[in-house]
Amino acid sequence: MRQLTAIDQFIAHADRALRTLSNAKQPTQRPSPASGVAEQDLSAEEKRHAAGLMRVNHSGEVCAQALYQGQALTAKLPHVRAEMEHAAAEEIDHLVWCQDRLDALNSHPSYLNPLWYGLSFAIGAGAGLVSDKVSLGFVAATENQVCKHLQKHLEDLPAQDQKSRAVVTQMLEDEARHADMALNAGGYNFPAPVKGLMTLVSKAMTKTSYRI
Ligand SMILES: [Fe+2]
Ligand SMILES: [Fe+2]
Repeated sequence: MRQLTAIDQFIAHADRALRTLSNAKQPTQRPSPASGVAEQDLSAEEKRHAAGLMRVNHSGEVCAQALYQGQALTAKLPHVRAEMEHAAAEEIDHLVWCQDRLDALNSHPSYLNPLWYGLSFAIGAGAGLVSDKVSLGFVAATENQVCKHLQKHLEDLPAQDQKSRAVVTQMLEDEARHADMALNAGGYNFPAPVKGLMTLVSKAMTKTSYRI
């Protein structure tokens, strides 16, 4: 296979960033778990709340795209590259499923997504520069953080919004698998203060993305 030059890599990463941030519908590997579920009537308030939660989940998926892209740029990961690419492909499914729910709820993705993308890309690339162990540890810690949000969202989503619930349930299953994969591949289990800092950052993201 041809070796990618720095310019090739820059173009590939810029292409992925634009696809993610332009909300262009990317091809998915799996149909949305919501596709087989009937849409129920929701009040205007329930729709607004469900859209806020799905916007947070969508922003989380934007961060996942950026994190995996940043990591692919700098981490070596010879023994888990295939698994990481599989996880990254599943993140595209999640991104599109959340986008579809936001459309169906007559809402929009967060306007702050370019900011979250840039930050997550820098973190992913930075962690990969330190070591594969730190890079994988970062994936595991992030995925675990996402699992906590998704569990909370399953409690908070309107009971009748079975479509959003189907999406979140499948995402929860996938993200837990991604976290296990990263830890089993030798990811560093970060100490509590680092995880606490990540929780603070993710709270800032969820609070703002819920509204804008
Ligand atoms: Fe995801
Ligand atoms: Fe994930």
